[in-house]
Formats: sequence, C-alpha cells, structure tokens
Amino acid sequence: MSGIRHFLDLDRLDTATLRGILDRAAAFKEGRGPHMPLTGKTLVMIFEKPSTRTRVSFQVGMQELGGQTVVLGERDSQLGRGESVADTARVLSRYAAAIMIRTDDPLKLDELEAHATVPVINGLTDASHPCQIMADVMTFEEHRGPIAGKRVAWVGDGNNVAVSWVHAAVRFAFELRLATPPGLAVDPGIIAWAAAEGGTVTATESAAEAVVGADLVVTDTWVSMGDKDEDRRRRLLSPYRVDGALMAKASPEAIFMHCLPAHRGEEVAADVIDGSRSVVWDEAENRLHAQKGILAWCLKS
Ligand code: CP
Ligand code: NVA
Repeated sequence: MSGIRHFLDLDRLDTATLRGILDRAAAFKEGRGPHMPLTGKTLVMIFEKPSTRTRVSFQVGMQELGGQTVVLGERDSQLGRGESVADTARVLSRYAAAIMIRTDDPLKLDELEAHATVPVINGLTDASHPCQIMADVMTFEEHRGPIAGKRVAWVGDGNNVAVSWVHAAVRFAFELRLATPPGLAVDPGIIAWAAAEGGTVTATESAAEAVVGADLVVTDTWVSMGDKDEDRRRRLLSPYRVDGALMAKASPEAIFMHCLPAHRGEEVAADVIDGSRSVVWDEAENRLHAQKGILAWCLKS
C-alpha cells in the first residue's frame, strides 16, 4: 500500500471511508468544516470529455477550500498528441496535490493511479461515475433520511452511472432494482460482485416491476458521451421513459433523481423532472459539497 488516498470507484473503498467522506461533505455544506484546509494546494483536472457540473463544482470546491485548479482539455495537453498517461502522471504529480480525470477508457484511470504519486480522482469514465453517486446518496439522505434498507430503482441504460449505483447499493446497504432493455444491461459480472458482497441488486427488463414501492427513481441520458449507436439506443430505451404513470407505481413518498444533463421527452418527462418529486437541483448542488468531502479525504486535510 502506497498510503496515497485515490478516489477511483466506490467498490474500492470501504463503507466507513465513504460514510466519513459524506460526513465531511455535510459539515462543509453546513459551514462546520475547517476553514480553507486546502490552502496552497492545486488540483489538476484532465477533461477528455465535456463537462459542466464536474468541472465547475471541482473548481469552485477547490477555491472555497483555499486551493486552486488547473484545467486541461483534450487539446490543451500533450496527452492529445500521444504523450503517455504514465509520463503525464509522473509530471503532474510534481506540480499538483491531486489529479482528477474524466476520460473514456477506465484503463487510463488505472494507469494514472499506477504512476501518480498524488491522489487520483475519477471524474467519470465509460465504466463508472463515483463522484456523482456520492452526491446522490447525500441528496437522498437529506430528503428521506438514511438510505440503508431503502429501495432504489434505476430505469434506462445500464451505463457508467448505473454501475456506480450498484457499487453504492453494496457499500450503503440499500436495495437496487435495475430496469434495462436487452442489450443495454449492466454487466452481469458487476451484479454478481454485488451478490458476492451480500448486496441486494436485481435486474429486470420491466421498468414497472423495478419501480414498484421504490423510495427513489433514477434515470440518465439514453445516449452517453461517446456512444455511437444513437438510433438503436432510442429504439431500445423508448419504453423506459420515466413519466408520471411510472412514478405513480413507486412509493407515494418517492423522489426522482437524474445526474444531468437531461433530455426532457426522452429519458424523463418534463412534468417529472420539473415536478415536486424531483430533487435534481439539490443533487447537482451536492456535487460541490460531496467533492469537497472527497478532496479533503484524499488530501488528508
Ligand atoms: N453529472 C455530471 O457529471 O455532469 P457534467 O457532465 O456536466 O459534469
Ligand atoms: N452517462 C452519462 C453521464 C453524464 C454525466 C455520460 O457518460 O455521458
């Protein structure tokens, strides 16, 4: 063990660590956190895909904790011209206190971790989006209390965000029901991992079946960044739109989440995402607070 605190995926961290991060996040949100604990520290952020929330919330979060950021877009660094991830990791570690990356291939994240001598944070890959789900768990608990034992329904594409929900279901001990179309299911190996860890994660092709009695209904875009098969996805996913009729099958107290960006009339009806059960703006805000908790944990501050 190097002793470096990377934030790569929820399945790679234990429950106590994740709970500690959320406690710090709540303290920062309530103004109880230490004042400027990251003064003098720099976070380098590498974006090989677009971002609004992740980029701005990390940047504002670092500023509010006393630190600063350097943002590298795909065309800004030598990574885009073929410099290796390993060499980039070695060099950035000499300048920065931590590195965040948003990229396609999760192997790049692993390579960055292997060669960085500072913490690496996963800002989304094609395989997962752990920072998002930390904010989502925080948001659920603000609205409905402890998530342990609750029922969460994921409806739509079995994508990167869905995978982090599976990891979270195990670590935070809630039931997760995945409703995905054939061909777009979460990798069965990940569901098998959840079962082996004692989690309660089930998969179905029926959206109606998944949402029955759910305390939280979650969806995401039908076409993720980098997906090439838009027409096929829209065809397969059209029965999985979260609309009022589907929400009516959930618990009367159920809330709705979406990591955003959203496409009204596709994965979610406007009256759901803009309705009284939607907590998507709190969810977006909590990216800021949750990531402050992540940064403070990674940097032992
Ligand atoms: N939810 C999320 O990660 O949004 P961005 O792509 O805007 O960062
Ligand atoms: N599944 C989406 C999430 C965006 C935050 C994507 O990867 O594009």
